[in-house]
Amino acid sequence: MNKEQIIRDAHEFMETHVPSTRPKEGYLSHVLGVLDFALMLAKEYNADAFILEIAALLHDTGAYVGENHCEESAKIAQEWLAKYELPKPVHDKIIACILHHSTNSDISGKGSIEEQILRDADGLGFLKNNFIEFYDIQKKKHLPSEAKAVSVLKVKDMFAKVTTEKGISLGKPLLEKALEYFKSAS
Ligand SMILES: [Fe+2]
Repeated sequence: MNKEQIIRDAHEFMETHVPSTRPKEGYLSHVLGVLDFALMLAKEYNADAFILEIAALLHDTGAYVGENHCEESAKIAQEWLAKYELPKPVHDKIIACILHHSTNSDISGKGSIEEQILRDADGLGFLKNNFIEFYDIQKKKHLPSEAKAVSVLKVKDMFAKVTTEKGISLGKPLLEKALEYFKSAS
């Protein structure tokens, strides 16, 4: 099977497997935002765009488990990838990207350039498309001041996990805009 077909299948799988805990619209905007940044950074750093496209599309499929969703997403991706018989290094890199895309990752060092890029893209995608949705969800769980504090912390954490030079330059204005939003948000 060619790569284009696998990518089309991955898009379809992502759209039909929205985690039960995530509103569909926000989930799609997040994943597609992450994909855009991942491909942009892949170009910048000569990284493998196929690995990043598949990893970006599947990175949050296990988000319904909450905290340890990287492991769950990696497990789902592994099962999904089995039918394609990709070369082992390609398969393993996709799984490593998904496994290490969160700030909760305990890997030492930054991993491959593809792993770094997916982590960056996840942070950037959140800062561009999802922090307001995150805040809205927090407001349902916490008192207003606490919801704001949790959201500001989350925004800062998502920026902190961006490590490539290009990612940081893309993320700075997004971080500023998000923090500006919280100054007057109610
Ligand atoms: Fe994500």
